[in-house]
Amino acid sequence: MSIESVLHERRVFAPGKDFSSQAAVGSMEEYQRLHTEALQDYEGFWARLARELLIWHKPFTKTLNQDNAPFYKWFEDGELNVSANCLDKHLQTIPNKTAIIFEADNGDVKNVTYKALYHQVCQFANGLKSLNLVKGDRVIIYLPMGIEAIVAMQACARLGIIHSVVFGGFSAKSLNERIIDAGAVAVITSDGQHRGGKTLPLKQAVDDGIAMGGCDSIRNIVVFKKTGQEITWNDKCIWWHDLIAGKADECAPVMVEAEHPLFLLYTSGSTGKPKGVQHSSAGYLLHAMNTMRWTFDIKPDDIYWCTADVGWITGHSYVTYGPLAIGATQIVFEGIPTFPNAGRFWEMIQRHKVSIFYTAPTAIRSLIKAGETDFTTHPNHFDLSSLRLLGTVGEPINPEAWMWYEQVGGSRCPIVDTFWQTETGGHVITPLPGATKLVPGSCTLPFPGIDIDVVDETGKEIPWGTGGLLVIKKPWPSMIRTIYNDPERFIASYYPAELGGNIYLAGDGAVRDATTGNFTIMGRIDDVLNVSGHRLGTMEIESALGANHLVAESAVVGRPHPIKGESVVAYVVLKGKRPEGEEAKKIVTELREWVGKEIGPIAKPDEIRFGDNLPKTRSGKIMRRLLRSLAKGEEISSDISTLDNPAILDQLKQAVS
Ligand code: PRX
Repeated sequence: MSIESVLHERRVFAPGKDFSSQAAVGSMEEYQRLHTEALQDYEGFWARLARELLIWHKPFTKTLNQDNAPFYKWFEDGELNVSANCLDKHLQTIPNKTAIIFEADNGDVKNVTYKALYHQVCQFANGLKSLNLVKGDRVIIYLPMGIEAIVAMQACARLGIIHSVVFGGFSAKSLNERIIDAGAVAVITSDGQHRGGKTLPLKQAVDDGIAMGGCDSIRNIVVFKKTGQEITWNDKCIWWHDLIAGKADECAPVMVEAEHPLFLLYTSGSTGKPKGVQHSSAGYLLHAMNTMRWTFDIKPDDIYWCTADVGWITGHSYVTYGPLAIGATQIVFEGIPTFPNAGRFWEMIQRHKVSIFYTAPTAIRSLIKAGETDFTTHPNHFDLSSLRLLGTVGEPINPEAWMWYEQVGGSRCPIVDTFWQTETGGHVITPLPGATKLVPGSCTLPFPGIDIDVVDETGKEIPWGTGGLLVIKKPWPSMIRTIYNDPERFIASYYPAELGGNIYLAGDGAVRDATTGNFTIMGRIDDVLNVSGHRLGTMEIESALGANHLVAESAVVGRPHPIKGESVVAYVVLKGKRPEGEEAKKIVTELREWVGKEIGPIAKPDEIRFGDNLPKTRSGKIMRRLLRSLAKGEEISSDISTLDNPAILDQLKQAVS
């Protein structure tokens, strides 16, 4: 395999003196010192941090157990509680500090102090206890972005209950699959949600998902009254407010082993079925917290805002756990960046005096576009002088968008382009803003202690400047522990034998700059798409399409998209005749809606093309490379001699307009 880097970025932005002088890691020498510390005594490095940052009920004596690699165990004989590490520890020091500034879709603002949040979490935990939920139970959380979602997650953590948050944009079918895979005993949801000025249902999807069958494990459905809309009710349902009525607002945290699973989070892989990524308690929290210090350089007075929904890993690590564990004040936003207009983010930064802002490149690109057409939504129109640090996550940021974002920060704010994954738990390649020289489009250097590199297909190191596979060569505390219910898939996906079986395969292509060693991510090497920073498996969309009664076969590929990063293009062979004209349009609409129902609106194909067949090799393998080229409108000049049915390419050139 050869991956060519297309990026020849030469602009370099050194950290400003003002920033460096106050930063947690304030120079490259300091970065090197941490790096060397980890190199010389890897376990000692992490053990030191785990002792400094976490509060242990029972201190650990063993740092890393590799006996059953790659099922690594960190700090295994230690005991702690994650929620106590996020809330209880602040009661003495910062009880009246604002933990959350919640801004609703309609602009209403509500502040919650650490003490108040602690009591809310305790009270809700007591409610969960009264439902006989206990340590180790799995609970699905299907809530809109808001205080309750954080309270629900923290309350689970308090009791050692393993939560699995499902993003509110996922369908009833997705919920059904996750309930079954996790063997969940309860769902926490709300009647509906507010988004972009609209009131949308939520509980309905839970009802529909359960009605699809196989969900007998569910004993309770806790419903938060958010919108007041009408919902259906059965004897498993209980209102959130009834559950907590009369419950004490103190609840002793249940101490758990360091390795006790904190949560499962389902994410797309290269087969049809999403993977239940399982994270630990101690190692996970340690990295979430430490990256708040070193990557975000968080200080007591910062107003921090990560725009991710708690339905994604970014919302777990950098909304629910990291910021609370470090004692930050953070904005939690219910709405969307374009409502009431595309100036919403900037207006909120101005009004709340946000100092650290963390968002996705796709959001930035859409706001660039909006700001060009309506100047009143352009960042220049707002006072953004409170900003001191900017961050991005979820997909590569193109240098143009990076430069625009740099202007948002008045050329004063470092930008941390943080590379990581659901599986890594927290940042693994990122600038440290007081130390690292920034290069637009590069996530720069490994986080101290993360032994990340680029290798060839046999796991051999390759010279800088050559593209290859991104791998992590040593285990790290916040790494995925397994795929829930599927340890074999865990090994096959992340520790494949071809690489020697002992290094973690990230699934991305990457290249290191020949002189600086800076990393540039070149995108997924597997059948995973990144649409608006959301991970979608092509097979997952194909199996959704395949479940439609009209579809005989399909192949899904990604196509570069100026705002979304990638968009979904589906090639479909119907059981009946290849449709044309109005009929084709009708079926496109039907199939898009179908995928929306099967997975969620984010997975709807942007474009569907019909063929009598798909381009296949003589051995029957779909030639996706050709389909990707066709989607981009490229002429197929490459070798198609292995293609069984070359004539099909002409048919597939045309999209249904
Ligand atoms: O392809 C990489 C891309 O997002 C994938 C991980 O997706 P997910 O597990 O949903 O987590 C997203 C939030 C952490 C990666 O395999 N990705 C994430 N961050 C970056 C990125 N690609 C380039 N640059 C990044 N900063």
